[in-house]
Amino acid sequence: MALKKLVFATSNPHKLAEVRAILDQQYEIVGLKDIGCEEDIPETSDTFEGNAWLKVRYVKQHYGLDCFGEDTGLEVDALGGEPGVYTARYAGPARNAQANMGLVLQKLGERPDRGARFRTAFALLLDGQEKTFSTAIEGEITRVPRGTGGFGYDPIFQPQGHAETFAELPPSVKHDIGHRGQAVKLLVHYLQNDHKPGQTNHKTLLAPDQ
Ligand code: IMP
Repeated sequence: MALKKLVFATSNPHKLAEVRAILDQQYEIVGLKDIGCEEDIPETSDTFEGNAWLKVRYVKQHYGLDCFGEDTGLEVDALGGEPGVYTARYAGPARNAQANMGLVLQKLGERPDRGARFRTAFALLLDGQEKTFSTAIEGEITRVPRGTGGFGYDPIFQPQGHAETFAELPPSVKHDIGHRGQAVKLLVHYLQNDHKPGQTNHKTLLAPDQ
């Protein structure tokens, strides 16, 4: 049986790969490029939830498709919650992961208080109904980057209860305990148990060729 398609309002290949791996066998995830959207959707909100909704509303407005979108950021306690909503461009518009991690490490220096968390907001628009799912994973910032897996700030984030960074842990562990994995689980639970399809049903989530 063909898998149901879900449009994920992202063009980030790492996020697509991660969500595809988590939803393997359950849903086929369609990214922005797959629906012909090459634009860089502006993220101008000062909250993760707000930015997730900006992406979802953009897709609905310009492509007529229901979808889900997400926004993620790293909050470092000793930096007053920075980089927060500026996580992607913390070290400048180039969105360079090495430079971003370098800036966090430089600002933290040798400080012993290194508590941090990844926060994620998922926004779902389906059949005219709106749902937001917010999750976080606590951890701390390492003194140097470690590991080659994952993406973004993964080499400097060590989740609570683990001796390895997200970039050192097997992807399955990050997917299971991580911020995005938790949000995907909430989304799927909602779709499978709580969503009332109404008149348009899940077909509104299908890509146009269905
Ligand atoms: P955005 O949500 O696409 O705006 O990305 C925000 C920033 O967070 C980017 O710099 C990403 O690389 C980073 N980021 C998002 N998710 C993760 C993750 O799971 N691990 C590490 N960095 C992440």
